[in-house]
Amino acid sequence: MAFGLPLLCSQVPSLSSTFSSASFKPNKLSKFQMALSLPSKPKKIERKLHKGGDNRTKYYMTKEKLEIFKCLEGWAEENMLTFLKRVEDSWQPQDFLPDASSESFKDEVQDLKSRAEAVPDECYVCLVGNMITEEALPTYQSILNRFTGVEDETGASMTSWARWTRSWTAEENRHGDLLNKYLYLTGRLNMKQIEKTIHYLISSGMDIQAENSPYMGFIYTSFQERATFISHGNTARLANVHGDATLAKICGTIAADEKRHEMAYTKVVEKLFDVDPDMTMVSLAEMMRKRIVMPAVLLFDGQDEKLFEHYSAVAERIGVYTSKDYGNILEFFVKRWKVGEITGLSPEGRKAQEYVCRLVERVRKLEERAHKRSLMTKSSHANAMPFSWIFNREVEV
Ligand SMILES: [Fe+2]
Ligand SMILES: [Fe+2]
Repeated sequence: MAFGLPLLCSQVPSLSSTFSSASFKPNKLSKFQMALSLPSKPKKIERKLHKGGDNRTKYYMTKEKLEIFKCLEGWAEENMLTFLKRVEDSWQPQDFLPDASSESFKDEVQDLKSRAEAVPDECYVCLVGNMITEEALPTYQSILNRFTGVEDETGASMTSWARWTRSWTAEENRHGDLLNKYLYLTGRLNMKQIEKTIHYLISSGMDIQAENSPYMGFIYTSFQERATFISHGNTARLANVHGDATLAKICGTIAADEKRHEMAYTKVVEKLFDVDPDMTMVSLAEMMRKRIVMPAVLLFDGQDEKLFEHYSAVAERIGVYTSKDYGNILEFFVKRWKVGEITGLSPEGRKAQEYVCRLVERVRKLEERAHKRSLMTKSSHANAMPFSWIFNREVEV
């Protein structure tokens, strides 16, 4: 359905198609770097645009586009909010932590520290990177509240979109809390340096380049939730390998949350492809041209100017988030949203569709080249870097 005309709320149900049940496969770092090396050919997009205050071109949500999101509120209530868990049914960080009010607290902490000794520093670098990324949650809530048409206008708005954003934030808030407390208790980490890194990261904010568009925004969040699902899932696997079953359970529990979030955002994008395929397709191509920027890209601890690069290299080497993940995520969503099968597109939409479908192969080729280059570099000289998070102990990057 083309969207030259305003969509009436009453039309929305008839537009919905059945959702195919997804078979999910997981997927993070050099991928992003790899994606960053993709040649970008900016193309003119025929659409209402205006210049933002920062002089960048931003998408303008026309009345018709705003109406779409208003009309989808009932749908979001039934299809998006249902991915959230009731507070009373939700896990809380304390479920996984020693109880400071209990007499056995000291023993529990001692057990935790003993288990933590077997986990290598390279895993802690990745765990800390994941935790810091989670702790920058204020940045992500701010981002969601800039998507025009789905923002929380009052701070306590009862629209489905605003309720989702607040509850999603509340669910996410537990991730940083739990990892922060658990990792603190291991005694292996320089918490002051970690806290400084969080301070820097939240202060620096981030621009996901979604131009305040909910179309681009929900595409971004779909990719990001899947990336965090993969990353936490892989740290769970590593924690298990090194014998810390509690840490593995923590990371696995967080990964399961990310998967639910991914499913919710993915479903929204699927619905957008259903009701406004042209705009959704062009938005997907645009986000892919701009590349999905990692939330931790501005990591800084006051010492290492290339902290993100070094953290990413460790994540790549030990398989927490590898250069193949970006391509895997892209390929997954192309299939999940049936991008190649969408019909009824405008010439611009078809161009965007062609671009996205071809991108999977291009990304794969770039991954292969990047992988070969990194193997050659590694064989010529192995490099170790000190990380302030672990008292400047060195880890191979
Ligand atoms: Fe999270
Ligand atoms: Fe999440």
